[in-house]
Amino acid sequence: MENKAQKKGFFDEYLPYIIVGILFSLLTYWYFWLATIADLTYIWQYVLKMFTLDFSGQIIPYSELTRLEQGYVSIFGPQYETIAPEVIRAFEERQHLLPWVFLAEFCIFAVMLIIQGGRKGPKCRKTCEMVEVHSLFQRIAVLGNILVMLYLFITGFSITFGNITGGGALGFFMRDTHEIVGLFWIPLWLLITVIAFKDHKHFTRLSSKWSKVFLKGLYTHGQRINYLAFVAFGFILCFSGFWLWFLSMDILPHAEIIQYRRLILFGHFMGSAVITFFVGETIYSYVVAIRGYLPGLISGKYPKEYLEEFHPEVLDGV
Ligand code: HEM
Repeated sequence: MENKAQKKGFFDEYLPYIIVGILFSLLTYWYFWLATIADLTYIWQYVLKMFTLDFSGQIIPYSELTRLEQGYVSIFGPQYETIAPEVIRAFEERQHLLPWVFLAEFCIFAVMLIIQGGRKGPKCRKTCEMVEVHSLFQRIAVLGNILVMLYLFITGFSITFGNITGGGALGFFMRDTHEIVGLFWIPLWLLITVIAFKDHKHFTRLSSKWSKVFLKGLYTHGQRINYLAFVAFGFILCFSGFWLWFLSMDILPHAEIIQYRRLILFGHFMGSAVITFFVGETIYSYVVAIRGYLPGLISGKYPKEYLEEFHPEVLDGV
């Protein structure tokens, strides 16, 4: 009896995570086994080879290749056909498929908004008792992160949609600045990861002063999933973005690193596409579904009634 009750408790507790986990597994299966034409056996061998600190992607020893094959490898990198056509094909496909993915996400959020009966908001505005939720430091960090991520989304997807936007001076400027702003985002991503790590069972604030650093309150399940996605896919973006920038090539493609760059660009794009959904969900639930979040983020204060009604999890920590 006791065991049964515990089991039920487990599923009740972790259902949102299980659902997201299952959906994510299906998405991974679709992406890697159905949608991609990358040679997965080769990629697996490549990943294993990296553990021996060989990043070239040359699985068959160079000396065993014919002279013609060696010529190809010197120019295009090893086994060009395994990842490159995937990237090129996917580059074309991303431009055609991604708008539909974004449209589908937009429709999901629009339907959710209709079901909940439109935007909700605080009943009183100026007459309410105000509660301080964010310190100046937190406001600068969170607002800075929003602005920098906004820039990275716009400039990143301008690279993806390069064929549609048609290039030009603006496109060039955005391509050029994306990675520089991206480098700046790496410490910012780390900072947000740390200050938003606020409700783990082993986490305790030593004194109330730490509430000026770590964000207040606890997470709901949905918020925690969004936080974990920010950490995981933000890491993928920072890691891959850093290497893409660091290994920038000269005019001639460099055979030893080009295959690694292709693989890492593949991961970078995947990270950016997935994080978009979770960021979209965060924007929807904080800003679109409920009025009054952004003004509070700027001033640091929210009406008490607003917190009681919409974010009791924050009021707990104030
Ligand atoms: C919110 C975070 C970020 C997002 C949403 C994002 C998004 C993107 C997207 C969509 C692309 C184009 C991928 C493609 O279609 O092939 C891209 C390319 C790129 N990103 Fe990011 N990115 C982010 C962070 C970073 C960071 C932190 C860096 C590190 C410096 C970075 C460096 C690069 C570079 C170098 C490329 C160009 C790759 C190439 O075409 O050679 N990105 N990014």
